[in-house]
Amino acid sequence: MDKSFLDNSAMDKSSIGKSSIGKSVTVSAAANVALIKYWGKRRGDGNQPATPSLSIGLDDLRTTTQLGLVDGTRDSFDPSTQLVMNEQAQDRIRHYLDQFRATFGQDHYFSVATTNNFPTGSGLASSASGFAALAIGLNTLCELNLDKIEVSKLARRGSGSAARSIYGGYVEIVNDDDAFAAQIDTASAWPLDVVVAVTAETPKSINSTDAMTQTAETSPMYAAWLQSHEADMSAAREAIANKNFQQLAEVSEFNCLKMHATMITSQPGVLYWLPGTLEVMHRVRLLREQGSAAFFSIDAGSQVKVVCMPEATATVKSALADAPGVLRLIETRVGGEPEVTFS
Ligand code: PMV
Repeated sequence: MDKSFLDNSAMDKSSIGKSSIGKSVTVSAAANVALIKYWGKRRGDGNQPATPSLSIGLDDLRTTTQLGLVDGTRDSFDPSTQLVMNEQAQDRIRHYLDQFRATFGQDHYFSVATTNNFPTGSGLASSASGFAALAIGLNTLCELNLDKIEVSKLARRGSGSAARSIYGGYVEIVNDDDAFAAQIDTASAWPLDVVVAVTAETPKSINSTDAMTQTAETSPMYAAWLQSHEADMSAAREAIANKNFQQLAEVSEFNCLKMHATMITSQPGVLYWLPGTLEVMHRVRLLREQGSAAFFSIDAGSQVKVVCMPEATATVKSALADAPGVLRLIETRVGGEPEVTFS
């Protein structure tokens, strides 16, 4: 699709004022998994990444956020929604909305109701889909008419990886002075499946921002990570352009393991993997040796995303279903265009 979320034509164009109170928009944005990862930030605020990154959108792992304009002087959160049960998450969104008002000269307050259809805060990129949904919702509801690049920057201010969830398919973060994401190919150009092996349903022990800082400050591997990153980006771009699965598998696993090596060697070491994580990694490697087109990637958490050529998906699922430490599998595919509905 490119039925753009930037298209506000379905909205009543009356200026946002008292008459708009009660107006709301619902945005569904998908999580993404970086095959070439962002790990480390540049100095300053706004989540400017230290490395570029390249991801695929996960079509069925979604955050749905209903954003409304309220008549009041405070943002309000629907107490029944998942994210707001966590005080820290609520503070993070409040701060984000304050920054948004200051940057865009807005004086509206918002009601926020948001749910994820997958485990939150556990390494499945809930902050990516969450802040992408919020940024798209703010652009639409406040009729800012920002283009995708600007919406991507707005999402990045909430979470670095959220810049990529503005798009579906194959997406790259361009590490400009003010970093933003761009789509490099659509999902239909190279339809791949993704099997997510859930190894924990609870939030991770250390959030990605703190873990990144600790890595940058203490890991002797961090300089090598930065220095070797561009070569991985080039290899991944080339693999996608040529639909070369083996090349994409090798560079993605290499980059993933390198990122985890930097965190494991920080002080104290950040070890997100659980026994189930390792079990899946070994099983996927064995499957590939036996001829199944599949590779793994793991973000800041214990979950494993297994990217497969569609003909390998059934084999991957049956090989992982009984793996010790795997709680359940979620089957999805590359995709994840955001969707907007007006209410
Ligand atoms: O966007 P954050 O702050 O949750 O950081 C994401 C970091 C990784 O998921 C590990 C890598 C990435 O590029 O998404």
